[in-house]
Amino acid sequence: MIPHDTIDTIIQTARIEEVVGDFVQLRRRGVNQIGLCPFHNEKTPSFTVSPAKGIYKCFGCGKAGNSVNFIMEHEHFSYPEALKYLARKYNIEVEEEKQTPEQLQELNEKESLYNLNLFAQQYFTSMLLESEEGKAIGLSYFKERGMRDDMVNKFQLGFNPGKWGVFSDHAIRQGYKKEFLVKTGLSVEKEDKLFDRFHGRVMFPIHSASGRVIGFGGRILGSDKSHAKYVNSPESEIYNKSKTLYGIYFAKNAIISKDNCLLVEGYTDVISMHQAGIENVVASSGTSLTHDQVRMIQRYTSNISILYDGDPAGIKASFRGIDMIVEQGMNVKIVLFPDGEDPDSYARKHHPTEVESFIAANSVNFILFKTRLLLAETQNDPIKKAVLIKEIVNTIALIPDGISRSLYVKECSSLMSISEQALMSELNKILRAKFKKSSPETDKELEAIQPEQISSEPQLDIDIDSAEYQEKEIIRLLLLYGQEVIKIKLNPADEEDVPVGVADYVVHDITHDDMIFENLLYKSIFDEYVSGVENDSIPDRTKFLSHTNHEISSLAVNLVFTPYELSENWFKNNIMVTTEETRLQMHVMLAIHAFKARKLDKMMTETRKKLTHATSPEEQGVLMKTFHELKKLSIQINKNGLGRIITR
Ligand code: CTP
Ligand code: MN
Repeated sequence: MIPHDTIDTIIQTARIEEVVGDFVQLRRRGVNQIGLCPFHNEKTPSFTVSPAKGIYKCFGCGKAGNSVNFIMEHEHFSYPEALKYLARKYNIEVEEEKQTPEQLQELNEKESLYNLNLFAQQYFTSMLLESEEGKAIGLSYFKERGMRDDMVNKFQLGFNPGKWGVFSDHAIRQGYKKEFLVKTGLSVEKEDKLFDRFHGRVMFPIHSASGRVIGFGGRILGSDKSHAKYVNSPESEIYNKSKTLYGIYFAKNAIISKDNCLLVEGYTDVISMHQAGIENVVASSGTSLTHDQVRMIQRYTSNISILYDGDPAGIKASFRGIDMIVEQGMNVKIVLFPDGEDPDSYARKHHPTEVESFIAANSVNFILFKTRLLLAETQNDPIKKAVLIKEIVNTIALIPDGISRSLYVKECSSLMSISEQALMSELNKILRAKFKKSSPETDKELEAIQPEQISSEPQLDIDIDSAEYQEKEIIRLLLLYGQEVIKIKLNPADEEDVPVGVADYVVHDITHDDMIFENLLYKSIFDEYVSGVENDSIPDRTKFLSHTNHEISSLAVNLVFTPYELSENWFKNNIMVTTEETRLQMHVMLAIHAFKARKLDKMMTETRKKLTHATSPEEQGVLMKTFHELKKLSIQINKNGLGRIITR
């Protein structure tokens, strides 16, 4: 744990233009600096750094944040890793807080497992490259398969000789604990004796995304059918199969630069592709992708191409799994290899450029692939075709993005020769059903919405009347001007304007009338201002820009970065308001009025609605009273306000 004080020091010391400047060439433009965005491909710079605000934002791809976010994003570091990076850059000493004995034990255990795996990897590698047996059996096996030395080194391949327990004994002699040998699964305990899990096998270390060895796969030599081809490490504190992708460490940069991830089945496919110069490739290790694995890929790209060896039956079996990937918002393509070939064998038989162009030429979007494959089976049987249509529409309905969905409807309608409208109405049926399931209370509203509207934006489950805009405006003013002072008449009867802090004024005025924020993110920011005002310490906006809650920090960055000018054309009592200061004053008042008017409007509508349903006279009486109070308040606000309030 890095202490809070240290975190603050790091954030205050790290100058955004210097941090970014290590990776991006920046030049000055006005108060900002601009450069080519490191997160997406662009020819004209839209990556903007604001030294004054300590933040960056790319107007091309939308990535935004402070120094810490930049390092996390650019270097794929976790939050503490990014902080430590910055601390090193600025020579800030990080003295980590003492951990509890339990935390320490857990950490020690993990570290011990990593350590032991590293030791094992080095042992297996030296066996492969230096021992007579290793060279004669292991290395020659790799050579026979056409694997080059640079690949053997890069993937840290190894060999464990064919005798039980040799490695385990060696590790114990070197001081490694039995407990960890068993926990990593390198050793198996039987009747108080340790045996090697892997023996007589070539070894493929499995690396985490940050390059540490977390497990192993061991392959038998040759094709002895009486033994499992691969033995793998069991799960442990550091090895969770469903969260691991073989090759991710060696692939991540290429995945980002190609904006695509190739998915293959096995260890040897990954290595052969690298050998052919194709590095954006990971393996699922023979199983279908899990939710977590997809999320891992999604950190680097939203495009995935699944490379299959040509067996339509096998592919059909995996459709369900691929649906799940589509549902997570990925664009999935399928590449089918010629019969009998897998990426490994194909890459060994062909020139690297041929491999690359084969993949490019044979990538087919999953939905179209699925449509074609199933269509070929229906053979004009109308019943089968109806089933097929349902099946395809079900998949399209999983795509979170409305625009993509309608594009697929277009393409599939022509593939299946069925009208777009027919597909669309089928799709809307499914979307409505899903929509209903997720929010039963919106049934009524749903019926009022046309199917077309739902199909293009099913996420529209937030009510359209939301006070989003007015709430956002208040938060933006607080972030931008919270610490400034405006002059204002606190009572209409006052003669003189008195100076008051913007945050003070906004907080008092809004809490005075018991107005609450609906958007929880805005609310949590507002609440921090409320307690700031109470404790006489108005929060600085850097607090939000570098908030540990990423939703808050990115919201703050975006609000602060919106090109934002106080309108120059305010009129007050028919006098044009010209100074920056008076403009700010007008703006604050207008924002508060709009906010309140919006809330009151909403409360009145709700009360009116309740009135029509009220049954007893008592209930009606109470509601009428509420309504009139709201009405009075509304009139009052409008009178004090600046004429008509635009409520949007
Ligand atoms: N696998 C496994 N256990 C097995 C068979 C396969 O764990 N008994 C996993 C391995 O991760 C393997 C992947 O499934 O890499 C794909 O299997 P396969 O295609 O049979 O293996 P390859 O890696 O292609 O190995 P080779 O080319 O040497 O046959
Ligand atoms: Mn294979």
